[in-house]
Formats: sequence, structure tokens, C-alpha cells
Amino acid sequence: MATPELQAPLLEQFTTTRDRTLELVKTLEKDDFVIQTAHYASPPKWHVGHVSWIHEVVMSKLDPDYEFYSKEFSDYLNSYYQQFGVPHDKGQRGSSSRPTTDQIFQYFDAITHRMRDALTQDITGEQSKLVEMGCHHECQHQELLVYDLQHMLADQYRPVKRNQPPSPARVKNTPISISGGLYTMGHGRNEYCYDIELPEHKVYLENYKLDTYPVTNSDYIKFIEDGGYDTYRYWLSDGWEKVRENKWEAPMYWIKMNNQWHTRNFAGTAPVNPDEPVCHVSYYEADAYSKWAGKRLPTEAEWEKAACWNEATQEKTAFPWGNDPPTAQRCNLLESYHWGCAPSGAYPDGASHAGCQQMIGDVWEWTSSEFAGYPGFKSGFDEYNDKWFTGQKVLRGGSFGTPQMSIRGSYRNFFRLDERWMFAGFRCAQDA
Ligand SMILES: [Fe+2]
Repeated sequence: MATPELQAPLLEQFTTTRDRTLELVKTLEKDDFVIQTAHYASPPKWHVGHVSWIHEVVMSKLDPDYEFYSKEFSDYLNSYYQQFGVPHDKGQRGSSSRPTTDQIFQYFDAITHRMRDALTQDITGEQSKLVEMGCHHECQHQELLVYDLQHMLADQYRPVKRNQPPSPARVKNTPISISGGLYTMGHGRNEYCYDIELPEHKVYLENYKLDTYPVTNSDYIKFIEDGGYDTYRYWLSDGWEKVRENKWEAPMYWIKMNNQWHTRNFAGTAPVNPDEPVCHVSYYEADAYSKWAGKRLPTEAEWEKAACWNEATQEKTAFPWGNDPPTAQRCNLLESYHWGCAPSGAYPDGASHAGCQQMIGDVWEWTSSEFAGYPGFKSGFDEYNDKWFTGQKVLRGGSFGTPQMSIRGSYRNFFRLDERWMFAGFRCAQDA
């Protein structure tokens, strides 16, 4: 049985997570909650309800006699879990005015109370892991909600908190040499992680180089101006199809005005900042740029070793700077409240042992690795991450929309190769 000492931090984590969801939607108008601006986005009302519904799923695993709040709510809020009925069509989440926004908030409160009650009972260590998974799942949706708010409102969104990013120290984006050999990748600590970060396993790496920073907007503009989007030889065949089909000529949200690239984001419409990491690029664009630059994308093992391996002590750490949790001094995550990327060089305190910077926060970084289970993978929760082991690439490191508690060096995110609405960029690798 979990002791009260174990349950108190769990209750605190749950409460903090629920409060953060409410904070993100606090300034929205009622009309904002209902609409869905793209088939890949979801209405804010759906996120608020769905994260609560997953807590219900968890409670149903804790107590076999658990009764769901409402079949109507379950049907609307189920994303893809066939064991709980037929999920509502994702592209139609914005076509339902019922449950209403008020009803969803009543539901949110009811589930918060139910889970708090459940956490006053004795639960086993395994059960507490399920509750923790529900909190981490809610964090994932907080980030998805931020992507959707950018898509729906951009600068019309009024964050409850907003801070200015630190000023950058101007440093060159030097490729850093990293020695190869056997590296044990994956999560090797006691803190929470997803099943897909396990088990730790050995991989062999050749010597390689990884850039100090992610590719910046000014780097990327050179690729555009050199005809990158018009030159077939840089592109994967599928990527070239996407460029033609979608008439891509720049990252998502970019528009050319008065001969200058502008972007619209939470700060408004303005010329792109040349020193910030490029954001809102697909895997195809990251891969094409890398070929144009005479480089390549790193594998996720290369990314992780550069982020977490301490050559001097021969140890792997949870984060680039060591094992202490993320802070606003070390990286740009959601609780930094910058609502955008920080320029390269803004976080020297967050450098990895190898010297790479901004590996945590700012933009998720595309890797060349296919999203699949590690050797010896065992599913930790039926119908979750491993349902997506096909047709996706791994991204590492978190973004300015990622809550601090949900990122670590071993975290594996994944998206389809043509998705662009998330905060994704990349850094380049080279053979040594
Ligand atoms: Fe979900």
C-alpha cells in the first residue's frame, strides 16, 4: 500500500496539474471553447473534458466498480480507446455544441473531486503510477492546447502570465564532436517515465558531431532563398509531394510582406527573429534543409547522448545540466511564460556536458529515428503510446509549450512527418 508520504506528493502533483489546465483557459471567451480550427486541432472544451475523462479511465482501473460520469461525455471525450466504446470523430470535435462549455467545467470539477477522494484511500505503488500517468497525460494536452491556441488565436490569446526571455550571449553554432562507442539509452532512473522510454538498452554509435544550437530562422531563410523549396534533390519523395500539394514555401505561419518574412504568433505579426530557432517545420523540411546544408538529422540515440552523457564522470544524467529539475534559468519551457522561442545563446546555464545548448525547451527537435518500441519493450498501458508505432518520427527535448514536470532527457515525442502546427524545429548532425 502507498503510504501517506507517497500520497501527499501525488495529490500535490494532481492539484498543480489541474490548476495549470484552468490557468491556460482562464482568459478565453466562451465562444473560444467550442470551435476547432483544423482537423488536427481540438476545441479547448474538448481538451478540458478529455484530460478529465482519462482520469476517469484511471479511476476505473483503480476500482472495478467505478461508474463513469456520463455515457454521452465518455463518447464525446474518448480520443481513440476502443475498449471504452466508439470514439467520436476527431475532425468533428468542433461540430458539437453539447456537452456545453459550462457542463464540461462542471465535469472537470466533479472529476477533480472524485480523484482527490480516490487519493485519500490506500492505493498501491502500481496504482499511484497510473494516477501519475493521468497527470502526465494532462500535461501533454496542455501543450497540445497551446498549439491549438496559437492556431486559433495567436496574439489574440491573453496569457495569465508573460515574461521576457533572457538576452542571448552571441556564440557561434559550432558543431561539437562527440565520441561514439556503446551508449546505454533510455530512462534509467526512479522518477516517472512512459513505457516507451524503457527498457534501457545499448546502442553502438560512430563518432559524430552535433550543432551547438538548433537551426535558426536566419539559417533557414538562406535555404529558402537558395531555392530550397524548388529543388527536388534535397527532398524525400513523399516530402516533395507534400511541398507541391500544400504549396509550402516556408515554415507554417510565415508570410512574406514587403520582401521580408514575417510570422504570426503569440507576440503578434512581426518579422521573424533571425536568432531564434526555426519553428513549425515538418520532418520533410528539417530533412531537406539538412541535406542542403551538407549535414543530416541526428538519430535519437545521438541526440540523447549529446544531451545527457557526462564523459568526465561516465554517467548519464536526467537533463543536460545534471539531475536537478528544469528551471526558468536553464531552459524555456511552459512555466517560463515566454510564449515563444528564446534566441540562441539565451541559456548557457542549461548547456549539456558536451556543450550543446537549448536541448531542453524552445523547440522539439526532429530526429531521423522511426518511432518504435525499444528492444524488449513492454506496454505499460493498453491502447496508449504503442498504438502509434508506425509512420512517425521521434522528436526530443520539449518546447516552450511543454510543462516542466513532463520533460526529461529520455522523453520521446512523436509526430507524423508532415505535421507542422506543433513547436518543432531541429539541429543538424554530421559524421565525424
Ligand atoms: Fe489524450
